[in-house]
Amino acid sequence: MIKKLIMAVVVFAASLSVAFNAHAQKFEQIAKTPQLGWNSWNTFACDVNEQMIREMADAMVSSGMKAAGYEYINIDDCWHGERDKNGFIQVDKKHFPSGMKALADYVHSKGLKLGIYSDAGNTTCAGRPGSRGHEYQDALTYASWGIDYVKYDWCDTQDINPKSAYATMRDAIHKAGRPMLFSICEWGDNKPWEWAQNVGHSWRTTGDIYPCWSCEHNHGSWSSFGVLPILDKQAGLRKYAGPGHWNDMDMMEVGNGMSEDEDRAHFSLWAIMASPLIAGNDLRTMSEATKKILTNKDMLAINQDKLGIQAMKWIDEGDIEIYVKPLEKGDYAVLFLNRADTSMNYSLDWNFHYLKDDISKHEIFFDKKKFTWRDIWNGGKGSTAEKLNLTMAAHSVVVLRLTPQ
Ligand code: GLA
Repeated sequence: MIKKLIMAVVVFAASLSVAFNAHAQKFEQIAKTPQLGWNSWNTFACDVNEQMIREMADAMVSSGMKAAGYEYINIDDCWHGERDKNGFIQVDKKHFPSGMKALADYVHSKGLKLGIYSDAGNTTCAGRPGSRGHEYQDALTYASWGIDYVKYDWCDTQDINPKSAYATMRDAIHKAGRPMLFSICEWGDNKPWEWAQNVGHSWRTTGDIYPCWSCEHNHGSWSSFGVLPILDKQAGLRKYAGPGHWNDMDMMEVGNGMSEDEDRAHFSLWAIMASPLIAGNDLRTMSEATKKILTNKDMLAINQDKLGIQAMKWIDEGDIEIYVKPLEKGDYAVLFLNRADTSMNYSLDWNFHYLKDDISKHEIFFDKKKFTWRDIWNGGKGSTAEKLNLTMAAHSVVVLRLTPQ
């Protein structure tokens, strides 16, 4: 009798969950390749206003970033004013006097898309109104403004269940009816890679980035991380990434104070790891060197490859690491990373190496199969039939694109 009762409860629960999942949807035709864009936080923090956002859209076009594939202009925290008497969120009228709809119209007129930021808790990380209890209202408001992207943060959430909080906002966006990319930002605290594939289009895997190579920056109750600590936190996550659902290594710090080699390495690593590439510098005043890094078409093509496979760490020699990303048509991207504070020489005799990727089921015997290669950053050319000899500056990368011979 008790057994029967338990069975009945189990069957009922299962049917409920099927019913729940049948309604649960995210917009599917978004971020089939990692999203490319810009976000205000890394440079401007709370100091955002409509004029600056318009200028950033202009700069995305005039710099050639739009032509290179970047499409989102994302306003992070602090655009919010108060809720009105019916609970609808309003913009901060002092800094966004024309309103969000007008700003979205402007960004759209440039052929770009507009992103916005909210939080699953009562307040955002900077203390503005969060979406808790207002999810459906907020999604409707964003849709009416013409928003294309929602980054959804995790401050002030106390006892909220992350899976249901993010699913609620996903459902609210879907119900609102306007396709919006849903970017989950809970810093990897609740392993979103295990449950968010049908919830968001990307999920942050770590705490916030900081513009340094290997530092961890202590803010008291939390830390932010440099390029290498964020890279190292991706261990074990590549199997969860794919078209429509990416491991997000956070917005980039290219052009925000690191050396040119470090910036190039940072960009190349984020690209090969199939992370969203969201610039975080001031596009209006960036140097030629920064622009050249952000608009490197060959590196962007590796990130945007249709197979959507995140790179694997192939060889680990301590200071030198080699990452490989399988690409369309039998190509491979191979990235050599020098983590060290000094320059390093490194030689690779391909003939003695074998590559096996259990996740993408790729396998190469380099003694049998030969490739030509092209150096993505300096244009050099070669073949895997010959030994590769590299001299790598401190904190730098070499990236080769291999094509079957
Ligand atoms: C958190 C996020 C950041 C940024 C700030 C805004 O720290 O991780 O990316 O959005 O909040 O307050």
